Amino acid sequence: MKILVLHGPNLNLIGTREPTIYGSITIDEINSAISALALELGLEVSIFQSNSEGALIDRIHSAIGVFDGILINPAAYTHSSIAIRDALSAVALPVVEVHLSNIHRREEFRSRSFIAPVAVGQISGFGPDSYLLGIRALFNQLTKGL
Ligand code: DQA
Repeated sequence: MKILVLHGPNLNLIGTREPTIYGSITIDEINSAISALALELGLEVSIFQSNSEGALIDRIHSAIGVFDGILINPAAYTHSSIAIRDALSAVALPVVEVHLSNIHRREEFRSRSFIAPVAVGQISGFGPDSYLLGIRALFNQLTKGL
């Protein structure tokens, strides 16, 4: 089973970016934890970060026929990108949306997600654990339909 993990814009800077909100763990450390969990669950993962909407969309399109599900932290595109939402709809794969911070207890504009309606579910507010919980949720969804 293969899962595509996508990190959106500015997530390359976590670890140093607004540490009171996003913590001090780097994207490389999060990616290592994702890879370790994937190994434990017997999943293959491919991880991609981009600051560009088009590059994220191209990667989503390339998941057709290759990946079984998508875990995405769309970052700021969560709140603005109908194009990413449409790409996720188009590929028709199970999607789990994750956020490091709790987007519902921050500025009001962050509580609106264009992605949530095309996702199986959203995990928000658990720091790096959001990704790991998301991987487990996607795994359960793919194996048990839960
Ligand atoms: C984020 C939350 C978004 O509102 C923000 O734009 C990000 C990161 C998170 O992981 O908490 O860049 O997706």
